[in-house]
Amino acid sequence: PAAGLLAGRHALVTSGPTHEPIDPVRYIANRSSGKQGHAIAAALATLGARVTLVAGPVTVPDPPGVTAIHVETAREMLAACEAALPADIAVMAAAVADWRVAREATQKLKKEPGADAPTLSMALNPDILATLSRHERRPGLVIGFAAETEKVVEHAIAKRARKGCDWILANDVSGDVMGGDANRVHLITAGGVEDWPQMAKEEVARRLATRIADALG
Ligand code: C5P
Repeated sequence: PAAGLLAGRHALVTSGPTHEPIDPVRYIANRSSGKQGHAIAAALATLGARVTLVAGPVTVPDPPGVTAIHVETAREMLAACEAALPADIAVMAAAVADWRVAREATQKLKKEPGADAPTLSMALNPDILATLSRHERRPGLVIGFAAETEKVVEHAIAKRARKGCDWILANDVSGDVMGGDANRVHLITAGGVEDWPQMAKEEVARRLATRIADALG
C-alpha cells in the first residue's frame, strides 16, 4: 500500500499492560506483552501517520518512527492520552487494569509474625477508551479491543455500544494469544462483523492500518 496514505494524520495508540502499585515494591499486573499494540503503532507510522504510542511497562522495543510515552498506571495512561489530543485516530490496544489498589502503601507492607494476610481494597480505574469516545476532543475514529474467552463476537458488539467507540477488534484469548505471536480477530463496525483468519500480529496491524486509511479516505 502507498506509504503516504495516512500522511498528515495523528494517531494515538495505547499498548501493553498497566501496573497498579500495592506498595513501593509490589504491583498488580496482567499478561499483556504489548506486541499487538506496538505492531499497530508501527503499521500506522509506516503509512505516514504521526504516531503517539502510550505504552505501559513492556519489554518490546519502541517501534521506529513513533513518539513513545512510557507510563505505569491506568491513571497515568489516561493523562498521557488526554495530553496527546487532538488526534484523528485512537487505537486503544492496552490491557488496562480495571482496578487499582485503593490506598497504595507508602512503605513496604510488612509480614508480621502471627498476623493475618492483608486485605487489599480496590478502586475502579478510569476507562480510557470510554473516556476518549465521549471526549469533547474525541478523535475522529476510535477503535477498541475486546479480549474475550467466550461468545467473542456477541460480547464485542455489546462492548462497542457501551464504550461508544467506532470499531472493536475482538480477539479470542482463550488460547495463547497473550504474549503469543499470532492473533485471530473479528472487526466489528457499525456495518457488521468481519472475521479475519488467524495471522501474525504484524499482519493484523497492517490490515487494520489499511482499513483505517480507507475509512479516512
Ligand atoms: O472493558 P474491557 O477491558 O474489556 O475493554 C477493552 C477495551 O477497553 C480495550 O480497547 C482497552 O484498551 C480499553 N480499556 C481502557 N481503559 C480501561 C479498560 C479498558 O481503555 N480501564
